[in-house]
Amino acid sequence: MTMTVNEIPANVHLVDHPLVQHKLTLIRDVKRSTSNFRQLLNEIGTLICYEITRELPLELVDIETPLAKIKSPMISGKKLVFAPILRAGVGFLDGMLSLVPSARVAHIGLYRDPKTLEAVEYYFKAPSDIADRLTMVLDPMLATGHSAIAAVAQLKKRGARDIRFICLIAAPEGILAFCEAHPDVPVWTAAIDDHLNDHGYIVPGLGDAGDRMFGTK
Ligand code: URA
Repeated sequence: MTMTVNEIPANVHLVDHPLVQHKLTLIRDVKRSTSNFRQLLNEIGTLICYEITRELPLELVDIETPLAKIKSPMISGKKLVFAPILRAGVGFLDGMLSLVPSARVAHIGLYRDPKTLEAVEYYFKAPSDIADRLTMVLDPMLATGHSAIAAVAQLKKRGARDIRFICLIAAPEGILAFCEAHPDVPVWTAAIDDHLNDHGYIVPGLGDAGDRMFGTK
């Protein structure tokens, strides 16, 4: 199922920065080592974080430089929560926290039932004030969309209202399912690949992100 540019839903944003695209090509390579894969995912996390925070509102605050008193911009408004879906979402986390060290972290444990491909929750821990924060859900692969849909539903149930979904590679099937389930949640991805295979893997994709990141295959 290939998706043409005209079929991409309006709230799906492509991160087309050359550095991200370059590193995405490197990370797709089957010969990439585990440590290099993890490092690249971290770096891409930092770069994507830079892109998705571009629209955060600013306010002018009073400061004093060694030479003068001025009004200078600082980020205002809601504070951030990074919410990696375990386990592959963790790959983005350190890179993002390096840019926004004060962000809080919510962990969402979901695994894919290998037969039904449905998401099953086994862990959830989020900051208690999540309703007042902007939540970025992290998962490198938006495949069937089941995990992403379930993770966002769990966050909404706990009060989160302002949510973005961040991935590295999305399948057309996952995008359509996710945007139908959560039309209020914008998606950020570096690539929209061709299709899902019969095992729910994205083609051409990069294989199993968790296994490649942690060397568990
Ligand atoms: N999860 C992965 O890690 N890779 C895929 O291709 C699909 C889901």
